[in-house]
Amino acid sequence: MSELSAIIFDLDGVLTDTAELHYRAWKRIAIEEDIPFDRERNRRLRGVPREESLRRLLDGRTISEERFRALLARKNALYVAMIATLSPRDVMPGAMHVVRSLRRSGFRLAIASASRNARQVVDRLGIATWFDAIADGASVAASKPAPNLFLYAAALLNVPPEACAVIEDAAAGLEAARRAAMRTVAFGPDVADEPADAHLRSFTSIDLAHWLGAIRYGVGAAPTVA
Ligand code: BG6
Ligand code: MG
Repeated sequence: MSELSAIIFDLDGVLTDTAELHYRAWKRIAIEEDIPFDRERNRRLRGVPREESLRRLLDGRTISEERFRALLARKNALYVAMIATLSPRDVMPGAMHVVRSLRRSGFRLAIASASRNARQVVDRLGIATWFDAIADGASVAASKPAPNLFLYAAALLNVPPEACAVIEDAAAGLEAARRAAMRTVAFGPDVADEPADAHLRSFTSIDLAHWLGAIRYGVGAAPTVA
């Protein structure tokens, strides 16, 4: 196994809690369209692109192409209005410390997000300079759970996929990372039961020295971190 040299972060739900904002925007659409929707159903939408999210929300209901496009635009307008208020205070607790420590330890760092709004979120959070590369929803045609976005990020970093670990809060993202032959770190409660090389409850509850030592030689060798 190659030595680990790069960490790829998902954005929504990992570096900031915008997964909650995506949920709220979809919830509004569901109410307006009279479609049953709750946090449990939302788990299937997490991490996947906008169009596929709407297909999953509709759950087999058929609507015209025009209506489909209108709902996508409406959801995005709701979401864009929500992220307009983001600021550096909305960076996930502990994330800055973890990123700085990883950087000091020599890791190459990237963001790989399925969102076409990722740049705007990154700019509002003020975190662009923390990373060597940023891949977003416009970077590749086939997004998560396809491996393409993570492979694209690894190529930007000039690091082989086997030397990358991906931190993800969604099942679709973990699947994409596995398909890219990358190591996986499941982040947060939604993926606590998903298969992954390591699990992280949060960035504040991590014993960084221990975690870093372990992932250097392969996340697979690391114990699950609280
Ligand atoms: C991902 C989110 O990061 O981006 C998904 O986890 C979202 O919930 C996807 O659907 C696409 O985002 P956007 O901003 O392009 O609609
Ligand atoms: Mg996410």
